[in-house]
Amino acid sequence: MDDGQRRWRRPRLGTLDSVREFWEAEACGERYTDAQAVDYAAVDATRYRLEPQIEAFARFDQPFAGLGLEIGTGMGSDFARNVARGGRWVGLDLTARSLEHVRARIGPGAPLLRSDAQSLPIGADTFDLVYSWGVMLHCPDPGRAINEAHRVLKQGGEALVMLYHSPSWVALSAWLRWGWHRGLTPSQAVTYMESPGTHAFSARAATRLFSRFRQVSVAPVRTSWDTRWWGPIGRIGGDAMGWFLLCRATK
Ligand SMILES: C[S@@+](CC[C@H](N)C(=O)[O-])C[C@H]1O[C@@H](n2cnc3c(N)ncnc32)[C@H](O)[C@@H]1O
Repeated sequence: MDDGQRRWRRPRLGTLDSVREFWEAEACGERYTDAQAVDYAAVDATRYRLEPQIEAFARFDQPFAGLGLEIGTGMGSDFARNVARGGRWVGLDLTARSLEHVRARIGPGAPLLRSDAQSLPIGADTFDLVYSWGVMLHCPDPGRAINEAHRVLKQGGEALVMLYHSPSWVALSAWLRWGWHRGLTPSQAVTYMESPGTHAFSARAATRLFSRFRQVSVAPVRTSWDTRWWGPIGRIGGDAMGWFLLCRATK
């Protein structure tokens, strides 16, 4: 087997540069709008229809009075809602493209940082809440990003983090598309989805990632993505076979 064949059979490796390049080319959610005249209301409507779990998980309906950090702002849908909860919020993303979207929708008010979640330019014990939806799973080392969230939280502070889940119907779709013919497992096949090296975790593996936290709850949930590719079959197993892992952890 030559080098090219060997590489083809491996999980796809993600580096910080390749992940940045991917998200600089198209921010998450841009496909739901016209790139020349971005309609944020349309982006948000599609987002919360496809991922209705977000609103309760993020507690958008509950006032907030502390200092919050959102890691991985994307097009700023959740950040705008987090800011509307009250308190003070800092937004952070690896890409200039994301932060431009956030500025376009909420103005110059909130502090924004272009930075890597795996190495936060923030002192320890700063935030009451760290929120991150579908971001740390794109980091080359998600455990490092979770440890960083722990570091910057105050004692008693909370992390709300969504990670991708395997086993799930979406991970099985990835396996059918990229995995079986390469001899990969479903989790390894997920590395070919979205940015290079995307991770998916079992509930047990995700719980281990939060081992520095005092209290941790990790729950898979069925999503519209599970039934999108499998129809009614994607309902089998219920939440246990769902694509999202909702992680709540207290420092
Ligand atoms: C799937 S999008 C999710 C964005 C947003 N949270 C949402 O749900 O729409 C992933 C986002 O994570 C950001 N990201 C990826 N790796 C990152 C890293 N190491 N540090 C900070 N942000 C990162 C990307 O730039 C992108 O905006």
